[in-house]
Amino acid sequence: MTQNADQYRVRKEPYYRAVQDEIELYRAGYEARIPMMLKGPTGCGKSRFVEHMAWKLNRPLITIACNEDMTASDLVGRYLLDKDGTRWQDGPLTVAARIGAICYLDEIVEARQDTIVVIHPLTDHRRVLPLEKKGELVEAHPDFQIVISYNPGYQSLMKDLKQSTKQRFGALDFDYPKPDIEAEIVSHEAGVDKDTAEKLVQIAQKARNLKGHGLDEGLSTRLLVYAGKLIAKGVDARAACTMTLVNPITDDVDMRDALDTVVKTFF
Ligand SMILES: Nc1ncnc2c1ncn2[C@@H]1O[C@H](COP(=O)(O)OP(=O)(O)OP(=O)(O)O)[C@@H](O)[C@H]1O
Ligand SMILES: [Mg+2]
Repeated sequence: MTQNADQYRVRKEPYYRAVQDEIELYRAGYEARIPMMLKGPTGCGKSRFVEHMAWKLNRPLITIACNEDMTASDLVGRYLLDKDGTRWQDGPLTVAARIGAICYLDEIVEARQDTIVVIHPLTDHRRVLPLEKKGELVEAHPDFQIVISYNPGYQSLMKDLKQSTKQRFGALDFDYPKPDIEAEIVSHEAGVDKDTAEKLVQIAQKARNLKGHGLDEGLSTRLLVYAGKLIAKGVDARAACTMTLVNPITDDVDMRDALDTVVKTFF
């Protein structure tokens, strides 16, 4: 990975509508260089918030999507073979630590324990990253910060962060915004009028009440934005809602019927 910090700068302000005092709290956390954990359901604005904060704080942003096949080497780097022999290549976490980026580890719980522990020395007073294979101890740039995202709904006993990981972070709780704010976001993001955005949010609220009664997760703000984008393009509102608010979230025929009925009361 290239170490040119400019490449990771967020150039244009990402639209983010503050819901509470999360911007001020995050800023204070960053100034104290406290690693941050963003908790909340899928599609509620966590990633957008990080992009916005990286822009606001004028820090490069390196995002790493975690998965269970990810190894410590994928994060810190490895030796590569090329025509001149072997050459060390920094992984994204190492680059972030060197250039003073905000490093966003998305869906951290997906990673295996032996991978997650490599962030431990970076997320306490040491702020170092040992590259064991290379025999180098990288001292994190003073501006470096780790941010992780975490969806509390998905966790099982088998798949959860260890307390020794959790207790290295300050945490901000995210959730779907209050109806008036969510409608404002949907209207802005999708380019639909306020009335349509409000209807979409009301549909979402009804669907969210079904969480735990046949639905595993609430209807995300992201899906409302999808629905709004289709409607803004002239797609029939009911068809748009079925495609974006009903079909993606359940395969259960009765549940789909129930959701379509909700849609029909608004459009
Ligand atoms: N407060 C907000 N301000 C602006 N846009 C928002 C806000 N909340 C949600 N959105 C919209 O919702 C979409 C989804 O948000 P985002 O991708 O940040 O979700 P997420 O919480 O990171 O989800 P996941 O856990 O699935 O990655 C964004 O693309 C944006 O359009
Ligand atoms: Mg995200």
